Amino acid sequence: MARQTKTQGKVVPLRPRKKPSSVALAPRQAKALRKQDAAHLVHGFVPLGLQQNKGVPVFVKGQGIYLWDTEGKKYIDGLASLWNVHIGHGRKEINRAVAEQMKQLAFAPTLIGPTSVPTVQLAAKLAKIAPKGLSRVILTSGGSESNESMIRLVRAYWKAKGKPKKTKFITLEQGYHGTSSGAASLTGIPLFNAQVDPGLPGVIHMPRPYSYRENNGAEELEKIIKREGAGTIGAFVAEPIQGVGGVIVPPDGWWPKIREICSRHNILMVCDEVITGFGRTGTMFASTGFGVVPDILVSAKGVTSGYLPLGVVLFKEEIFQTFLETGDDYAFWHGYTYTGHPTVCAAALANLEIIEKEKLVQNARTQGHYLQKQLAALHELPIVGDTRGKGLIAAVELVKDKATKEMFPAELRIAQQVWEKALDNGLITRVAGANSIALCPPLIITKKQIDEMIDTLGRAIREVAEEMDGEWRRASGK
Ligand SMILES: Cc1ncc(COP(=O)(O)O)c(C=O)c1O
Repeated sequence: MARQTKTQGKVVPLRPRKKPSSVALAPRQAKALRKQDAAHLVHGFVPLGLQQNKGVPVFVKGQGIYLWDTEGKKYIDGLASLWNVHIGHGRKEINRAVAEQMKQLAFAPTLIGPTSVPTVQLAAKLAKIAPKGLSRVILTSGGSESNESMIRLVRAYWKAKGKPKKTKFITLEQGYHGTSSGAASLTGIPLFNAQVDPGLPGVIHMPRPYSYRENNGAEELEKIIKREGAGTIGAFVAEPIQGVGGVIVPPDGWWPKIREICSRHNILMVCDEVITGFGRTGTMFASTGFGVVPDILVSAKGVTSGYLPLGVVLFKEEIFQTFLETGDDYAFWHGYTYTGHPTVCAAALANLEIIEKEKLVQNARTQGHYLQKQLAALHELPIVGDTRGKGLIAAVELVKDKATKEMFPAELRIAQQVWEKALDNGLITRVAGANSIALCPPLIITKKQIDEMIDTLGRAIREVAEEMDGEWRRASGK
């Protein structure tokens, strides 16, 4: 049963104090907000006990790569909040663009016809910066919705092509594609699906190219196609680099081989660039960086840097022409009320302008090299087995034994411990995969700030390792 609080139902007025850092609320107010959170708000991915017993930070301000909570505590946003705040917090340009658009026009129902100026401009802009040939654009409100649209697009395409049996999807084990029904079915992380299985039929999960532990090559795809028959498979869908699954970077050559296999067997290749899109890995889209062009590209997050919710599906002209050839009456019969929302599109345009003007894709490449190099230094810590990443996305994998790569027992929740310790030290990270900690800072990050971030993470890992060492000594009587 939800805990009742004295503050239940009351709106706590926000009265920021002048000092310190001019953002802390009065302690009584800060406490009341935490209590209200625990009593009412569901945070989908937070273990209920953690929220109830320890609570979560309530943020009041963001500036650049930093955040402040109600107690005035400062954090480095080492995850760009949820892999998405590319341009950093507190950007006035977005504020202005959004306010201006709201003054002009609140809404236009793109789904049923009439649209708005920024909606059309955004579609054209996306087609311009997309990988070559992806000229058609579907707008949604996030990554999961975009994957739902993608699933429909793939199935509708093969039906229009006269191949209605091509309905199956091949995705990667531990891949993440969202938690709405279709997207969750594509997701290959059992944790997210166990409560709601069975999902969409005809989804096959393939071993991933996790070179630190498993040597799965692109030929795994060939094996599945042989077993299932290319005539039953609509698309192969994967993140260019798995994010939630542990920041798994495929070896060079893996993606080009996947591209070749998909083309040879007449299977659509879809890249889920919800995390990797819009500069994260040092190229506008990670697929291009791996030397491939997908038939369909799904993205979200960085397209607005999280200032407002938006998802996109970019797809090849040939797919659109196939629909058109079936007749002028053809329509998708799919979309959402908020498809192409004017204010959201205005925010996206302003965001993309900042990414271009401030050369943030280039910055992700330059600072990304530095981040990956500095992270490698963490190998000196006794429980760091692997560091990996590309551009400004990275992970540190924690192991019990470096030589054998033996994992810590799951019940120790080692990555969770490091995540908590880092948070206490003022750094936001995320547990990714079984035993890894992910970093994914805003693309505006500087060298000095990278040093600050890695120092804090290193300290958190060291402290957890020392505490464990102490416990081990006590347990073994040494
Ligand atoms: C690769 C990938 N696809 C899809 C999604 C789902 O996006 P959303 O949470 O916006 O629905 C995510 C979210 O993290 C993601 O990382």
